[in-house]
Amino acid sequence: MNADGRTRLNQTPEWTALAKHREELAGTHLRELFAADPGRGEGYTLQVGDLYIDYSKHLVTDDTLRLLRELAAATDVFGLRDAMFRGEKINVTEDRAVLHTALRAARDAVIEVDGENVVPKVHAVLDKMSDFADRVRSGAWTGHTGKRIKNVVNIGIGGSDLGPAMAYEVLRSFTDRALTVRFVSNVDGADLHEATRDLDPAETLFIIASKTFTTIETITNATSARTWLLDGLEGDAKAVAKHFVALSTNAEKVAEFGIDTANMFEFWDWVGGRYSYDSAIGLSLMIAIGPDRFREMLDGFRLMDEHFRTAPAESNAPLLLGLLGLWYGNFHDAQSHAVLPYSHYLSRFTAYLQQLDMESNGKYVARDGRQVDWQTGPVVWGTPGTNGQHAYYQLIHQGTKLIPADFIGFAEPVAELSGELKAQHDLLMANFFAQTQALAFGKTAEEVRAEGVAEELVPHKTFQGNRPTTTVLAKELTPSALGQLIALYEHKVFVQGAVWNIDSFDQWGVELGKVLAKRVEPALTEGAEVPGLDASTKALVGTYRRLRGR
Ligand code: F6P
Repeated sequence: MNADGRTRLNQTPEWTALAKHREELAGTHLRELFAADPGRGEGYTLQVGDLYIDYSKHLVTDDTLRLLRELAAATDVFGLRDAMFRGEKINVTEDRAVLHTALRAARDAVIEVDGENVVPKVHAVLDKMSDFADRVRSGAWTGHTGKRIKNVVNIGIGGSDLGPAMAYEVLRSFTDRALTVRFVSNVDGADLHEATRDLDPAETLFIIASKTFTTIETITNATSARTWLLDGLEGDAKAVAKHFVALSTNAEKVAEFGIDTANMFEFWDWVGGRYSYDSAIGLSLMIAIGPDRFREMLDGFRLMDEHFRTAPAESNAPLLLGLLGLWYGNFHDAQSHAVLPYSHYLSRFTAYLQQLDMESNGKYVARDGRQVDWQTGPVVWGTPGTNGQHAYYQLIHQGTKLIPADFIGFAEPVAELSGELKAQHDLLMANFFAQTQALAFGKTAEEVRAEGVAEELVPHKTFQGNRPTTTVLAKELTPSALGQLIALYEHKVFVQGAVWNIDSFDQWGVELGKVLAKRVEPALTEGAEVPGLDASTKALVGTYRRLRGR
């Protein structure tokens, strides 16, 4: 029994039943499951908004799905879900509400935190962002010298970078192509250098995105950006007001940095960094695609929120995807999960999901403070699929590790494509469908022999198959479809954290490295003695200093 009154997860009857069921299912091949049920290909699917979700190529039967849902019921996933939507402080270690869903709530919705309805605040900021975005896009907002803003540089890291950077790429075909939009995150000076080297300071707007406004990488880059701007504008400090805006929860620190809080777009501590790109953190994206498109994206998020909040367990997509991930992680020893988009525009999608999933569920301590003795979050990885096919798919097809994968594709190429480039889409999608087919059904030795392959090569050319995949197919890559997809993954991650009984909304694990970096820096720059420095790090620091001629 846990301190919070819950039975240890892996001692519940529901968990034990799944472990037993896994044994019974061992050796069952997807080929058999499909042969036994001709309706499986259409039956094991869901349509949520624009997303057609096919989960037929998973190593599951109706019994598996029922047992997984029973585990979700026993761990009260929907109870925690409702508490989240109500604004309860389910982020227990930080004593905070978790309300990214309020960021896309309808204007007339009522969602209370500590007795205050937060929805009017959300819409006030959205309106302020819209007004600002329109002024930048129309040229009404000019730089210090009166020149029109042509370049937007977002400086932020983690949740203050990955979301807008990803979404900007995804929605590139909806952006104002006259604007150059760049994202700087790395404290390596090369990042800011490359982002600004061909820009005119008089035409450049910096958006400093930081929830806390204390993140050293962001503040360092923002300080260097200010120097770059002032160097280019004859040192006139008044220029900062026209070229710097801030996205933050921390007005005090924003003012301390020298940005007028009138140019600050606010969000709140009940928005986790990795759940924040539909808040003020999305300002760079909104400038790029315009407020209307941004709101369409929010509508997409809301559609999936409503689905997650109201759909029964049997047809609840985030619940299903969360449970399927858990099925492999906890009952098949899968260590990782690949996300493989078949869209060039989704090139940063998996990188975004890495923070969403791994920072949320990379935890070994349960909500009750005790160490878990079950697997939690997987390693999430992947790049656009066709490129992956010529790199790492070999291991997914014939390696010794089970890697469940999500395949994401779109029926239509983006509207901008025409002629031959548009025609290429069918080839892209032929690959998309072929890969999940090969992964699921493989190729038997008999099939290989029938092709006249020499006997000694038969084992090499045989594919076991039985590699599970989810296919997510939408008609078009629109702002709304993107919102639906992101919310699908947000809630999938939620479901898994709820079952594992971990706090998916804190991130204490990243703190230690930050503290140590601060302690080590004087050793690099001044050769200062760092008390308690281990022998390995001491030798590395010494070598670094020698190589730098210090
Ligand atoms: O890496 C830790 C972290 O706190 C992330 O959770 C967050 O998204 C990132 O740093 C950036 O934080 P901030 O927005 O406060 O600069």
